[in-house]
Amino acid sequence: MICLGIESTAHTFGVGIVSDKNDKCEILANEKNSFTTDAGGIRPRDAADSHVQNAASVVKSALEKAGVSWSDVDLISFSQGPGIGQCLQVGAAVARALSLEHKKTLIGVNHCIAHIEIGKNLTGAKDPIVCYASGANTQIIGFELGKYRVYGETLDIGIGNLLDSFGRALGLGFPAGPKIDEMYFKAKNYVKLPYSVKGMDLVFSGLQTAAEQKIGNVDRTDLAYSLMHNAFAMLTEVTERAMAHTEKQELVITGGVAASKALREMMGKMCEEREAKMFVPPVPVCVDNAAMIAWLGIVMHKAGNKTKISESFVMPKQRTDDIEVNWL
Ligand code: FE2
Repeated sequence: MICLGIESTAHTFGVGIVSDKNDKCEILANEKNSFTTDAGGIRPRDAADSHVQNAASVVKSALEKAGVSWSDVDLISFSQGPGIGQCLQVGAAVARALSLEHKKTLIGVNHCIAHIEIGKNLTGAKDPIVCYASGANTQIIGFELGKYRVYGETLDIGIGNLLDSFGRALGLGFPAGPKIDEMYFKAKNYVKLPYSVKGMDLVFSGLQTAAEQKIGNVDRTDLAYSLMHNAFAMLTEVTERAMAHTEKQELVITGGVAASKALREMMGKMCEEREAKMFVPPVPVCVDNAAMIAWLGIVMHKAGNKTKISESFVMPKQRTDDIEVNWL
């Protein structure tokens, strides 16, 4: 089966084409156009306009890259939520139009679960705790009793957003995460900053404000290290507690922040001490991409799911634990 997936939850408009030979995800194309600004940040209408302008060319280049024609495609999937409403609507409209035009089954999927399912398939993890850490999302997730349960999550901003906002204040430009990751390994001293874990949940805005107030008063490399250290230590603490509570012995790290060496090092040590296995999917499927949307389309369709045009509205606030999982 071949599925063409469309991703448009935020600044990335992507089209992925995947097949499922022997239940293994084979990525035939994973094309994208990402909206960026010099100042950083996303104004929803501007990102949505950019998606409208680029949609046709990204679809075309994905089909060319995959070497398939419409007659080869069995299914069209799209990100139904969560995300920025105006951006989601562009992807949904393109998916509906292509589904009607080419008479293909349509399926709306959850963006966060798409990260999880492609991560599991490509790494071979069976029943992991998933640490999904990106710009907008930060959740600790595991499968239990028919749903992907959220054991802990950010109560304010995503951890990637924390790194980028602090990086902007430090003048590092966008995206700042990779630059802070380099500074992490060059720092000499720890600067005391807030550490706020609330039960299983995380709060990052106090840490951001405190760090920003110290800019100019302490060494910038030490400050960047300390902010990242506290944020990742908070994330590692709740991830470990979820693993201990569920007795799961696998961890998958995904989302754009999974590219961080510092995070991999910290989570890796925690897993080693627990004699658990850590998996990190290839970075192109950790960041927002459409191959994962296409793969979840196949997984869900095989379990009998599909979405009628009349039910294909977008759900900007859809939660990971809203979805009844009937494919595991
Ligand atoms: Fe994402």
